[in-house]
Amino acid sequence: MDIALRQISKSYDGRPVLENLDLDVAAGEFHVLLGPSGGGKTTMVSVIAGLTKADIGSVLIGGRDVSLLPPGRRKVGLVFQDYALFPHLDVFDNIAYGLRVRKLREAKIAQKLKYYLEKTGLEKEKHTFPHQLSGGQKQRVALLRTLVTEPEVLLLDEPMSSLDVLTREQISAELVNIHRKTELTTIYVTHNQAEAFSLGDRISVLHNGKIEQIETPEELFYHPKTEFVARFVGINNILKAKVAATNRYEAVMEINNEGLSQAFMLRAKNYPVFKKGEEINLCLHPEKIDLSKKNEARDNGGNRICGKIAERTNHGNVFKVTIDIGGLALHAVIPKSLFNFQVYEDVWVDFAPDALHPLCGRRCREPEFSRKCHNISSPELVGVCRTDA
Ligand SMILES: Nc1ncnc2c1ncn2[C@@H]1O[C@H](COP(=O)(O)OP(=O)(O)OP(=O)(O)O)[C@@H](O)[C@H]1O
Ligand SMILES: [Mg+2]
Repeated sequence: MDIALRQISKSYDGRPVLENLDLDVAAGEFHVLLGPSGGGKTTMVSVIAGLTKADIGSVLIGGRDVSLLPPGRRKVGLVFQDYALFPHLDVFDNIAYGLRVRKLREAKIAQKLKYYLEKTGLEKEKHTFPHQLSGGQKQRVALLRTLVTEPEVLLLDEPMSSLDVLTREQISAELVNIHRKTELTTIYVTHNQAEAFSLGDRISVLHNGKIEQIETPEELFYHPKTEFVARFVGINNILKAKVAATNRYEAVMEINNEGLSQAFMLRAKNYPVFKKGEEINLCLHPEKIDLSKKNEARDNGGNRICGKIAERTNHGNVFKVTIDIGGLALHAVIPKSLFNFQVYEDVWVDFAPDALHPLCGRRCREPEFSRKCHNISSPELVGVCRTDA
């Protein structure tokens, strides 16, 4: 069943939480709603489930306007972040609850639950009470309690935010499996971008009550349209650029962020199409930056600027490195095996022209992951000025 929101608005005490919101989730889609805390995610799923009434706008499920139906008649399954299990009921009775409300016969309930409990490895825990379960087990019970009622659409509101990474990965895999088998239209709410990228067929980014961008994970990561989306998906290098020159393939950009001691030039792939004199924000993916020693001569046909390592933090198999390039902090993610530098060491910062993307939704024709740096040098291109120390 597809889900459609049309011009949904909701305010609390005169303060808008959702504003003229439109969303189309296709039948069978696994849609992730991504956004910061307080952005209106829970309000949005509550409006779909019928637990919260929108001020204006309509909710359609399978083409049918359900805006005036009570929650019980919408065939929507909703799983909350805090599980919301009944503390006085054991696992079996918690899961059976929705079926008993629907007056299913006990023999049928027992048969149904046997199947689901075996499938999820919860058979042994069926007479256990919620306070005796781990977070992961509680989340599985909450999910099962919803799935046994065979909803037409499934809404999951930050279902894994209180679980450890390993349990999250296990339950994620189970969710993907369930989704593949049932093809249940799902909206999954999270503020965790890694979770969004691993689970979503498409991702909506909700910010201040509006959807800023709806995209496949690949497109969202490589072509964020706004600074908020870029930073939220982890691209924290935003360069303020002015187009100084262009040829068919590349543009020369003058970078002049606030705080820079001196403007400098970079080469960017000529996204269709940069105009000379145009001012544009460019994002630079931290993982597309290479570092090398100051005494290493290298001309890779790309961009090379001089910087000083300001900070390094440990993230498992990578370091997150902050490099000071003349007053501007540039962030890089460097595999540990390639990092042989000291904090405060002067380094070369290298990246290809196609590592820079305009923040305006312009697309290259080829998908990003298949694209190589073209390394085109053209007589029309003005020389790239490098900030030598
Ligand atoms: N019942 C309510 N009464 C008044 N204000 C509310 C109510 N429910 C939500 N809000 C406010 O609406 C805004 C959005 O809340 P919502 O719970 O939808 O955000 P969220 O994106 O789910 O946040 P989180 O990631 O922290 O769960 C918040 O500022 C919140 O304080
Ligand atoms: Mg919430």
